[in-house]
Amino acid sequence: MQHDKILILDFGSQVTQLIARRVRDAHVLSEVHPCDVSDEWVRAYAADGSLKGVILSGSHASVYEDTTDKAPQAVFDLGVPVLGICYGMQTMAHQLGGKVESGHKREFGAAAVRARGHTALLKDIADFTTPEGHGMLDVWMSHGDKVTELPPGFKLMATTDSCPIAGMADEARKFYAVQFHPEVTHTKQGDAILRRFVLDICAAKPDWVMRDHIAEAVALIREQVGDEEVILGLSGGVDSSVAAALIHRAIGDQLTCVFVDHGLLRLNEGDLVMEMFEGKLKAKVIRVDASELFLGKLAGVSDPEAKRKIIGGEFVTVFKQEAAKLKAGDGGHKGATFLAQGTIYPDVIESGGAKSKKAVTIKSHHNVGGLPEQLGLKLLEPLRDLFKDEVRELGVALGLPPEMVYRHPFPGPGLGVRILGEVKKEYADLLRRADDIFIQELRNFIDPATGKSWYDLTSQAFTVFLPVKSVGVMGDGRTYDYVVALRAVQTSDFMTADWAELPYALLKKVSGRIINEVRGINRVTYDVSSKPPATIEWE
Ligand code: XMP
Repeated sequence: MQHDKILILDFGSQVTQLIARRVRDAHVLSEVHPCDVSDEWVRAYAADGSLKGVILSGSHASVYEDTTDKAPQAVFDLGVPVLGICYGMQTMAHQLGGKVESGHKREFGAAAVRARGHTALLKDIADFTTPEGHGMLDVWMSHGDKVTELPPGFKLMATTDSCPIAGMADEARKFYAVQFHPEVTHTKQGDAILRRFVLDICAAKPDWVMRDHIAEAVALIREQVGDEEVILGLSGGVDSSVAAALIHRAIGDQLTCVFVDHGLLRLNEGDLVMEMFEGKLKAKVIRVDASELFLGKLAGVSDPEAKRKIIGGEFVTVFKQEAAKLKAGDGGHKGATFLAQGTIYPDVIESGGAKSKKAVTIKSHHNVGGLPEQLGLKLLEPLRDLFKDEVRELGVALGLPPEMVYRHPFPGPGLGVRILGEVKKEYADLLRRADDIFIQELRNFIDPATGKSWYDLTSQAFTVFLPVKSVGVMGDGRTYDYVVALRAVQTSDFMTADWAELPYALLKKVSGRIINEVRGINRVTYDVSSKPPATIEWE
């Protein structure tokens, strides 16, 4: 099925991906590509008629626009609407004959913009009206340079006191540009503006719907795989779980999942994964219980990076052994030829952009590079066009339980980096039980203001095992037991994070339950460090 699509050219802004997600929220397919693609590339991209509009992103927020990047000229010759945002507006002005000057002072933060010119983009969209009757928008600005002269054919669309040309439009050619950022939530009407552009001005069909995407994705997988066989490393995380459910829907028993249990998973996690995939979905899953192997290799090792290396390395070794067996095939099987991975769109954008050093760099710990080549297998990546929220939606549409699909992220090395210093089975067993209590209570406690559980109000929450002992009293006796720390953070990108202001009643319940129910732990602390300077994990 051919979808209408919007091309987003990335000039290196931290928030380019947000533009793409907002467009997709309006159910229109959008794709992010580096701004330095060639004119030929743009023309080829548009050749099948599916391209309905182009958005030029901002540039990196922290820079006084020292870039000289331009949009490929072809963008302005295609005959489709173009929207420039921030730097995208400046380059549009510059390339089409207007003037851009270095701002004497950088404008950063909230601003009220007066909408002018009654353009199709902003018509009837306003946050408030001044006594004189001017429609005003509350927006987010972040720029140094500004447009000081409109290009020929353009009219003024928006102004602020410090930025007289805060928006411009050439309505005959359907070129629009705004100096503010409609993609961030601080711009209250941002969604309305982007929807107006995409749905009305570009007239793109809103047919990017996850429920419908299943049939399309299934057809693609069937076409790609034919009657061959596929191996997938199942970790219990969102991406590999959704990939497994989708591929299983497409090819059933031609898929075999390999689930390597390194002994550092959360309480009952291994059983839950098996119950879901083998029990409910009836998928073929090989569970490799490698906990003794991993704990053996970790004995005596306390350096965090050394622990990470060992866990990552062993994981690959064990997975490769299983994959080699599956590749060789047996009586009933001819042998696998594909390795499936849960790569998602942000990973793809990152590696595409890395070539031109433009795209947002987000810490990515996932996806062991090079495995398919080493194993001599072809790669199958059915989620590579999807953002995380879309992967989750797809997971629910495929019948995976929302608790699994909306889970907090869990690091690959698992409890290995949540037990400080040397990892021992005794510690892991204590930690698993304490952590399970914390998570249960986060799910139980509902915030009256939002009606959401504290699990949903936090981005990541877990318990950390501290291998130190402290004195306590229990009944008539003295105890000398271990300490755990509770960690809960709120963040949108995991690059920075605030510690969550959990209600005291919740902390009290958790600490009471852990100390009473987990013999061996007699003290619970709460981590009140934000990132930076602390990190989210303790190791
Ligand atoms: P930090 O601790 O660096 O963590 O603030 C940021 C995010 O990354 C996750 N994380 C990891 N994920 N392997 C992973 O797969 C790792 O080694 C690893 N270390 C940190 C962490 O859980 C948080 O979500």
